[in-house]
Amino acid sequence: MTPESVAFDRAVEYYDETRGFPPGEEQRVAALIQQVGGLTATSRVLEIGIGTGRIALPVAPHIQAYFGVDISRPMMLKLQSKLNGEPIYITQGDATRLPFPDDTFDAAVAVHVFHLIPGWQDVLRELQRVLKPDGVLIHALTRAETDFQELWQAWESVVSSESKRDVGIQWRNGTTFLEDSGWMPHGEWQELAYSQSITPRLYIERVRQRIWSRCWRATDTELEAGVQAMEKLMQVRYPNADAPIAWQSVFTARAYRKPSKRV
Ligand SMILES: C[S@@+](CC[C@H](N)C(=O)[O-])C[C@H]1O[C@@H](n2cnc3c(N)ncnc32)[C@H](O)[C@@H]1O
Repeated sequence: MTPESVAFDRAVEYYDETRGFPPGEEQRVAALIQQVGGLTATSRVLEIGIGTGRIALPVAPHIQAYFGVDISRPMMLKLQSKLNGEPIYITQGDATRLPFPDDTFDAAVAVHVFHLIPGWQDVLRELQRVLKPDGVLIHALTRAETDFQELWQAWESVVSSESKRDVGIQWRNGTTFLEDSGWMPHGEWQELAYSQSITPRLYIERVRQRIWSRCWRATDTELEAGVQAMEKLMQVRYPNADAPIAWQSVFTARAYRKPSKRV
């Protein structure tokens, strides 16, 4: 049976707290997205998997209209509750079947979403359809550069490959699949680094609570074994597990032109 896309209903209460940019960074992120996509005051933009508006809210005031689709109604209701006059228009829908006419948008935005959608090729087909001929797809993701990588590897070492597999694009292929699918890079990757801090104990607690979608597919037994493996390593690596560790993240974005032929 083909797996379904991963809806974020369960994450709505903690998404902003655990995925939000540090205060002030949203504006830098918005500037990066605008620059990468060449967005102007007349741009009409579509975000697939708009979520609670982490990207949409800071970008929308700088363009004409920001449309968003998401399969999660709770995530969109959360975004709606935060709107304060921004030109954001949201629709519950699946990115594999976009409810928009052909040649509608100057740009599309996709951030942390292709690994959640088994039918990601249908999404690309739909984006190709709804983007104007010279429209661009702005693809962005965050790379975490932290020594918690080691803790994460301890978790992964005891979790089955099926539970670790992303249902859509595998995370490690997240920067190459568009080119492999015929989308043409338009400019280089642009990066923006920011730092946050978290204690090792809280990091592990977040895995235990399945805060990250990468923990959602593990069985209870796998999850518990994974957490135990992390805690064992934590005792060796972090004698003071309650001391915050700086967590460097790099938000990176690149624009792509659509393939010239319909696929
Ligand atoms: C990790 S969140 C990212 C949200 C936002 N782009 C951001 O960067 O904060 C992924 C979002 O994509 C949504 N999603 C997953 N599969 C989808 C699909 N097939 N169509 C539309 N939205 C989808 C989820 O419900 C979730 O809100």
